[in-house]
Amino acid sequence: MDIVLDSTAMFYAIARPFMFLTEAESAHNLSLSALKLAPIPTIAFADNCLSQTVAGLHFPNPVGLAPGYDKNAEVPVEILRLGFGFTEVGTLTPLPQAGNPKPRLFRLEKDAAVINRMGFNNEGQAAAVKRLKYTARGSLSGLVGINIGANKDSEDRIADYVTGVSNMEAYADYLTINISSPNTPGLRALQDKAALHDLLARSMAARTTATPVFLKVAPDLEPADIDDIVDVSMQRGIAALIVSNTTISRPPLKSRHASEIGGLSGAPLRDLAHQRLIDFRKASGGSIPLIGVGGIASANDAYARIRAGASLVQIYSALVYKGPGLARHINEGLANLLKRDGFACVADAVGVDG
Ligand SMILES: Cc1cc2nc3c(=O)[nH]c(=O)nc-3n(C[C@H](O)[C@H](O)[C@H](O)COP(=O)(O)O)c2cc1C
Repeated sequence: MDIVLDSTAMFYAIARPFMFLTEAESAHNLSLSALKLAPIPTIAFADNCLSQTVAGLHFPNPVGLAPGYDKNAEVPVEILRLGFGFTEVGTLTPLPQAGNPKPRLFRLEKDAAVINRMGFNNEGQAAAVKRLKYTARGSLSGLVGINIGANKDSEDRIADYVTGVSNMEAYADYLTINISSPNTPGLRALQDKAALHDLLARSMAARTTATPVFLKVAPDLEPADIDDIVDVSMQRGIAALIVSNTTISRPPLKSRHASEIGGLSGAPLRDLAHQRLIDFRKASGGSIPLIGVGGIASANDAYARIRAGASLVQIYSALVYKGPGLARHINEGLANLLKRDGFACVADAVGVDG
């Protein structure tokens, strides 16, 4: 295992400077090609203390890949081999769409951050289904979630989510309704109480299976919004809340791309996303599972989010800076932190700081 790990780390150490000289979206596409073409060794870190059941699903470990990296479900198997307990593909819209004009993805190296205004570029749900049909989910080492969204030009956005549920439920361990991207104008208005009731009622009614449905929210919310989202989600049978998407706020940043328009992720999002998780935990009293996302880059970050109330965590931006061994590294560190503090399993640590 060490030789395999060392070779993965060495490959990344060699590739990283070249990747950082390459324009950000091209580097992203190169990394996807590398995952598809190179034989990916299994470097997962397994420990019974990391596994748990959340929303009726068995997660081998609590570290997932956040959506946006594998938008078209091209590499779920390879991602799980890298040690993620789950991967969320998408956002997938009913119809293919090109997204916003390029450039639309920016590395903020000095801030360990990313700004994106991709705008749900994706090949559409039918193309993803063609791939996912041949993925034997039962034989994978982790779970595959599918994140669904609305087409930019759709006349009835809620209808797009209903279509998404129908198109994708058979291929997902869970579905995520994403209404928190800042890059589709007006989308986040679906977080408002009346619209959310309608959206969730129609989406849940479209299900023909027991596939759990999660809801992903923005970090840029007021306390009253949070109470409303928790209330409506619980009434409509949402199985978990994912907190959070990227932020449109701009804490002080040092990098030259700091003033680009779009959603900010990575290190500068960490404290805001952590605070929102605390807010959602408080508002829900622990009665709905939470998934913590935003600026998580280490085992300590993941552990802090779990202690604040997250049953699971997801990462994306930190992968850009820390490479493909990160999920394994975080899981190994988490297992040590749990043992250090006398927890028999990760579920015992969820919300202990609340
Ligand atoms: C380039 C990029 C594309 C993203 N695309 C999506 C997306 O399609 N759907 C979604 O729900 N979140 C998307 N996200 C948000 C991430 O899933 C995550 O919520 C956010 O980046 C915060 O986590 P991080 O700080 O670990 O990156 C995207 C993020 C980035 C950086």
